[in-house]
Amino acid sequence: MCGIHLARWGGALMNISDDKMSRAWMGAAPTAPPNPSLYLDTVRATAFAQSYKARSFESLSVEPGALLLDVGCGTGDDVLSLARAVGPGGKVIGLDKNPAIIAEASRRAANAGLPVEFQVGDACRMEFPDNSFDGCRSDRAVQHMDNPERAVAEMVRVLRPEKLLVITEPDWETLVIDPGQRFITRRVANFLCDQCVREGWIGRRLWAMYQRSGLIEISVNAEAFILTDLVSADRIWGLRRHALRAQQAGVISTAEMDAWWRELEAAHACGQFFSATVGFMARGRKPASCPSETWRRDHSAA
Ligand SMILES: C[S@@+](CC[C@H](N)C(=O)[O-])C[C@H]1O[C@@H](n2cnc3c(N)ncnc32)[C@H](O)[C@@H]1O
Repeated sequence: MCGIHLARWGGALMNISDDKMSRAWMGAAPTAPPNPSLYLDTVRATAFAQSYKARSFESLSVEPGALLLDVGCGTGDDVLSLARAVGPGGKVIGLDKNPAIIAEASRRAANAGLPVEFQVGDACRMEFPDNSFDGCRSDRAVQHMDNPERAVAEMVRVLRPEKLLVITEPDWETLVIDPGQRFITRRVANFLCDQCVREGWIGRRLWAMYQRSGLIEISVNAEAFILTDLVSADRIWGLRRHALRAQQAGVISTAEMDAWWRELEAAHACGQFFSATVGFMARGRKPASCPSETWRRDHSAA
């Protein structure tokens, strides 16, 4: 393979691995987590991510002049996209608990001339007053939070009445990989879902969390993210990294790890590797009338 790897989704192909990105991925220790900005840029460069992110923006029904919140905003590229939609009379705030990623988001926004602000903060304990925002979103962040239920309740609390909350998350138990011996693949996939992500079942749980949070007009959509090259799947889903961790934890043996990875590489070499996971997008509206004290008592988990 040359330095070009393709992510395939719904017939759309996109180069997710230009030379600069490939160079940046080189040299990382096999079991170490990737650089967060590089990881997020790699995902964002796929046709699938660009498509679902565009749909998540549309789902917020953004109006010019709106004040929006992106919770777990990472490098802030989605904040910039939304800021173009709200225009100069509006504003988009990006919140993330990682000070380093907020510094990177601020750096990326510095010369954009857009109405944005970045803050370090915890989604589970946000300092914004009740009923502050005309829309709130979170993209692949709730799965990493200590208390997803509390985070959703917080997002609803800071939304203005009648405004929308849109959350997009994968469900890691939907990860499918071919080829590979079933028992090894299942052990690796279950290890990834149960041990490597804080809430690997977040995708399927959004529906009930939205119901409990008191939102109305709730809908959940799902879409498969398909990757047919091993290099992209490895970068985006951390296949080898998580399998090596599973091996270190004694979930699979060294021989099983080696055989499994060789089989995936062989399939990749002849264009037969396949993998996919399902991403969910949940949308709900805050009811028109809801006294804030009642809301806090009834819907904010301790
Ligand atoms: C996978 S990244 C997604 C970033 C961005 N939403 C995107 O789509 O590119 C998850 C982000 O959630 C942030 N995060 C995790 N837990 C958080 C919390 N409790 N409060 C705020 N941000 C959090 C992480 O620091 C990380 O930047």
